Amino acid sequence: MTATPTGLREEARQAIADQSARVVTVLSSLLAAQDKLGYLPPEAIDETAQRTSASTNEVWGVASFYPNFRFTPPARHTVEVCWGPACHILGAQPLLRGVMERLGLDGEGDTPDGTFTLRLNTCLGVCPHGPATSFDHEIVGRATRETAVRHIDLLLASDVEEGRSAVLEAETERVKAERDARVAAAALVAAEAAAEAEAAAEADADADADAGAEAGAEPDDAESPDADADGEAGAEPDADGTDSDE
Ligand code: FES
Repeated sequence: MTATPTGLREEARQAIADQSARVVTVLSSLLAAQDKLGYLPPEAIDETAQRTSASTNEVWGVASFYPNFRFTPPARHTVEVCWGPACHILGAQPLLRGVMERLGLDGEGDTPDGTFTLRLNTCLGVCPHGPATSFDHEIVGRATRETAVRHIDLLLASDVEEGRSAVLEAETERVKAERDARVAAAALVAAEAAAEAEAAAEADADADADAGAEAGAEPDDAESPDADADGEAGAEPDADGTDSDE
């Protein structure tokens, strides 16, 4: 993932602040930032200037003087071949030719596909073990043309493996998302069915209540005519105009 300018600045600031050297200089700060980021973005130059109270131009002057500093992000893998005096005597030249041939490069630089950066180092610090090489910052001493090429091939193989892992990971995520979607859909169907059943039960209960109410009302209706009839009969006057009960 590509770091944002804010992220780069923060990482550069942290790397410069974390230096263990008692005396912090422009050079030590630039080295710390490049060790952390792999190159020197403008943010690292700014942070170095602020930390050392130097001007931005002074920092650029130091950074551009040393060929080991780079100002663009490196390729995915970095291969370094030492061509210092000790390694030169011990066979660095044929080794370097083999590495350049394998990478398709004529000298230092990046492969066109952005996979490898080749750097020549003046001393990797392991002179007795020369010729020395470094693959993604891992030192390999007593290297030969063949072992160097093999290390490059191993890095390529690890990329393929990582790619496979990424594909597998993506597939696992896809299956998991599908399963979650199915579970959610099933839960929705179950909730809808429960709601329908509840509505049907309520409708049945209402229908029963109505039927009960109607059944309860019938006797009153039946009594009324009788009562009316009784009333009418009771109210019928006698021939003399008085009630027979009187
Ligand atoms: S000269 Fe190559 S490691 Fe020192």
